[in-house]
Amino acid sequence: MSQVRRILQVCLLLIPALVAGIPPAAAEYADVVLNRRAEKEGMRPVIFPHWFHRIRFRCKVCHQELGFKMRVGSNDVRMSDIVEGKFCGACHNGDVAWAPDQCDLCHSAKRGLPTGIYGGHETLGPGRW
Ligand code: HEC
Ligand code: HEC
Ligand code: HEC
Repeated sequence: MSQVRRILQVCLLLIPALVAGIPPAAAEYADVVLNRRAEKEGMRPVIFPHWFHRIRFRCKVCHQELGFKMRVGSNDVRMSDIVEGKFCGACHNGDVAWAPDQCDLCHSAKRGLPTGIYGGHETLGPGRW
C-alpha cells in the first residue's frame, strides 16, 4: 500500500472519533438517568442506556413515533404509561424486549442521582451509575 493511501485511510478512521468528540453530539452516546418521580415514589432512579438503543433503532422510532422529546428530563414518563404500552412500554412488553415486571433492570441507578446525562462515549447499562 502506498504511503499516501495509508495516510488517507488513517484519516478516514479518525473522522468518527473527531465527530464523536464534539460535546453536544457525544451526549447521545451516554446513559440517561430518569428520576423525576421514581425515587420520590420509593424506587431507584432509572438508567436508560441511549447508545444501546440507538444502535438497534432509528431515532424517529422513539423521538417521533413514541413521542420522547429530545431533551433530558423533559419527558413525563409514568409507570402506568409503560404498563399500558407507551414510551418504554412500546417495546418492553415481553415481546420486542423483556416485560415491565423486570423492575430492577430499569430502576438500576444509585439512589440520589438526579435526572441527567452520565458518561461520555460510554454506555454502561444497568447498575453502573
Ligand atoms: C422498561 C423500563 C422500566 C421497568 C421495567 C420498570 N420501570 Fe418503573 N419507571 C420507568 C421510567 C422510565 C420511569 C419514570 C422515571 C422518572 O422520571 O422518575 C418509571 C417510574 C416509576 C415509578 C414512579 C411513579 C410512577 O408511577 O411513574 C414507580 C413507582 C415505578 N416506576 C415502579 C416500578 C415497578 C414496581 C416496576 C416493576 C414491577 C417498574 N417500575 C419497572 C421505567 C421502568
Ligand atoms: C429506544 C428509544 C430511543 C432511540 C432509538 C433514540 N433515543 Fe434519544 N432519547 C431517548 C430517551 C428515553 C431520552 C431521554 C429523555 C428524557 O430524559 O426525558 C433520549 C434523549 C435524547 C437526547 C437528549 C439527551 C442527550 O443525550 O443529549 C438527544 C439529543 C437524543 N435523544 C437524540 C437521539 C438521536 C439523534 C437518536 C438516533 C441517532 C436517538 N436519540 C435515538 C430515547 C431514544
Ligand atoms: C424501540 C424499542 C425500545 C424502547 C422504546 C425502549 N427499549 Fe429498552 N430495550 C429494547 C431492546 C430490544 C432491548 C434488548 C432486550 C434484550 O436484550 O432482550 C432493550 C434493553 C434495555 C435495557 C438493558 C440494556 C442492556 O445493557 O442489556 C435497559 C436498561 C432498557 N432497555 C431500558 C429502557 C428504558 C428505561 C426505556 C424507556 C426510557 C426503554 N428501554 C425503551 C427496546 C426498547
